[in-house]
Amino acid sequence: MSQQSIGVVGAGTMGQGIAQVLVSSGFDVQLYDVADEQLTRARGAIDKGLGKLVAKEKLAEADKDAALARLSTSTALDALRDCEVIIEAAPEQPALKEKLFRDLSHLTHDAILASNTSSLSLTRLAAVCERPERVVGMHFFNPVPVLGLVEVIRAEQTSDATVARIESLARDLGKTAVAIADSPGFAVNRLLVPMINEAAFLLQEGAATPADIDQSMKLGAAHPMGPLALADLIGLDVCLAIMEVLQEGFGDPKYRPCPLLKRMVAAGYLGRKTGRGFHVYG
Ligand code: CAA
Repeated sequence: MSQQSIGVVGAGTMGQGIAQVLVSSGFDVQLYDVADEQLTRARGAIDKGLGKLVAKEKLAEADKDAALARLSTSTALDALRDCEVIIEAAPEQPALKEKLFRDLSHLTHDAILASNTSSLSLTRLAAVCERPERVVGMHFFNPVPVLGLVEVIRAEQTSDATVARIESLARDLGKTAVAIADSPGFAVNRLLVPMINEAAFLLQEGAATPADIDQSMKLGAAHPMGPLALADLIGLDVCLAIMEVLQEGFGDPKYRPCPLLKRMVAAGYLGRKTGRGFHVYG
């Protein structure tokens, strides 16, 4: 395995996007997931994503094939043993992430362990690892191949060398890195998700329809999509989890999750991934 091999943990939407950007930037990728069928779906999604670039003549067909050949998948965590950097993009469950980080820190020696967590404390994740100075946040945005930002989150224990390595990796992927302290919601989600929560309050009050709320922010504030459509893209469960982290982290009632958002999550209306959220998908 080459020195440039990067591990990705979790083959969901974010893991797929991160793996796609890595292979198209020339890195060998070991993509790990517990479910074989998810890895098959991920390979298909990455193939499709790279295909969009070929259709736009931004990538040659041969380069697409070469990129796909750099992707290896496995249901054994052991496959990540020799990776130089491992980017974790598992579901946003604290106990699951802590177990993964503990296991990865036993498995690897000098690897940097980066988490794509959208809200959890990197300091707490680093605390379960043998070399906490090598733990860092590397937060991408959905859709990963399209959006240019990476938040680099420094845990209390993270070393300067770890931050520098992740900033340089972000540059190699064509992304712009911004450094953020390990504060609840970091920067983007602290700004973005309360706006989504407020849109849910507007809807709950019957002030406007979902279509009109979204149209308002698209045409009135030049957002590429409205807040309710964005919630459907992110996942309503993820939005709720972020509001809960903000509320707990700051203890400020301004971060209370909207009851409608809570009810929709309880009903399983999670957005695009379940076919229904604030909008209905075919
Ligand atoms: N691979 C490569 N290219 C892709 C792609 C993929 N997987 N998916 C889309 N693209 C490309 C398309 O080919 C298209 O390229 P061109 O501009 O060259 O034509 C471009 O991306 C835009 O795609 P579409 O034409 O399909 O769609 P659109 O113009 O309606 O834009 C959108 C869709 C990119 C999602 C846009 O609406 C947008 O940026 N919305 C805001 C998304 C946002 O705010 N994301 C952040 C969420 S928060 C988060 O992720 C963090 C968290 O922790 C919760």
